[in-house]
Amino acid sequence: MPGRPFSLTTPIYYVNDVPHIGHAYTTVAADVLARWRRLLGDDVFFLTGTDEHGLKVQRSAEAKGITPKEMVDRTAPAFRRAWDELDISYDDFIRTTEPRHHRAVQDFLQRVYDAGDIELGTYEGLYCVACEAYYTEDELVGGNCPVHGRPVEHVVEENYFFKLSRYGDRLLEHYARHPDAVQPDYRMNEVLGFIRQGLHDFSMSRTSITWGVPLPWDPAHVAYVWFDALFNYCTAMGYGEDPARFDRFWPVDYHLIGKDILRFHAVYWPAMLMSAGLAPPKHVFAHGWLLVGGEKMSKTKLNQIAPSDLVADFGVDGFRYHFMVDQRFGPDGDFSYEAMVTRYNADLANNFGNLANRVLNMAVNYLGGVVPDERADGVLVDAAARAYTQMEAHMERLDFAGAFGSVWELIRATNAYIEERQPWALNKAGDAKATAAVLGDCLEALRIVALLSSPVIPRAAAELWRRLGLPGRPQDARLPAAAAWGGLPAGARLDKGAPLFPRKEA
Ligand code: MSP
Repeated sequence: MPGRPFSLTTPIYYVNDVPHIGHAYTTVAADVLARWRRLLGDDVFFLTGTDEHGLKVQRSAEAKGITPKEMVDRTAPAFRRAWDELDISYDDFIRTTEPRHHRAVQDFLQRVYDAGDIELGTYEGLYCVACEAYYTEDELVGGNCPVHGRPVEHVVEENYFFKLSRYGDRLLEHYARHPDAVQPDYRMNEVLGFIRQGLHDFSMSRTSITWGVPLPWDPAHVAYVWFDALFNYCTAMGYGEDPARFDRFWPVDYHLIGKDILRFHAVYWPAMLMSAGLAPPKHVFAHGWLLVGGEKMSKTKLNQIAPSDLVADFGVDGFRYHFMVDQRFGPDGDFSYEAMVTRYNADLANNFGNLANRVLNMAVNYLGGVVPDERADGVLVDAAARAYTQMEAHMERLDFAGAFGSVWELIRATNAYIEERQPWALNKAGDAKATAAVLGDCLEALRIVALLSSPVIPRAAAELWRRLGLPGRPQDARLPAAAAWGGLPAGARLDKGAPLFPRKEA
């Protein structure tokens, strides 16, 4: 029987940029959540992809003397490669230039038009090409785009407008009924504040560019890139093509985004959906920025870091672990290489790696490398149960640092247990039963550590699983049953192996 449906998305990334650790941050978080929900037995649909239309792409292509299509075909694969390198377990990778998306967007546009929410007008305003968004004079910072710090362009054109101004009350009602629809709660306050100020209609078509989806009733216009981009989520869930699948996964459970695109996702998008008679997303979670030297990464500041550079030093698991645990998922946080080395050594090389090494070595030396029958069923029974319960509560709130913090508590408890019970002394004293019982507990704890850490460090978790003589992979196990004490079968052969996380020199 398929499990409960659970759908989640990352933003679709602009292809004129190359993947950097900011993009990877959202994507890894989504992957950890997807893997967690699969462990819980859910039928997960995890979507990512690339945003390939718009003025920025058209201009970069012109500058290079190639067609926009050639340009996106060259650059889009970099994102797929980056996510494959980071073990991102996406179920679909959508590109907005795919025919399935054109069809779906056109159908959607027509529905909104037929609902009477799209009208022709003249637009005169200040446009930031990097954001693909209009700004008002007072939103600018020092006359420049508040996000990119770059000059905006003065634009006058005949445009179609989406009547967002009609949706203020409906959005407020919706959010009153679903107070956790925007998370964390301070982002909800921001959204409510913005809606209460009064919403303005926004321009949703362009005649100045051709690189986009033409409006079905007036093909001289192409849809504004955000109008087309947001709909990727519905296209990929089967809108128009597979109604049963669409009903199963829509409304989406979680859109994970950075705070820079909150308004698009929590104001424009639900209004657009309401207009077409579709349900708004269940949850939008906006995390903060990952800063480098206190600043947001950008091409112009040349402070972008490619994920592969860090993977070369810390491995895929080391990369994933750092970004999920180093800072709370919500506020801004600063990246530093030194802090990454420190955390890697402390949490992965010392705590996780040493515990695995220590226990497996003792089990090989004292127990002949076979999982014993005996258990002491001591303090670790409660510690393991607590790790699971706390992890689950943290994951419910997308508090990844808290969730893995709970797993690392179990690691610390197991290390403390070893210090206290001293299996080497028990072995020396010839107490074979007690040695086996204490190590039996530790091996059992390691199994639970491998299982619960598998969403964030899938490779090391799978390797530890194998060394414990367990069949299959941790991701094939099902929670909560698999986290219960006593799941490690006696008699399995252990394999001590090389250190899972070799120490790094600072
Ligand atoms: N194409 C739009 C999104 C359309 S979604 C329907 C877009 N693309 S983007 O390439 O600029 O990616 C923005 C997203 O990348 C952010 O919302 C965030 O998820 C991630 N990040 C980019 N830089 C980031 C940081 N410096 N820190 C954290 N996340 C960052 O906007």
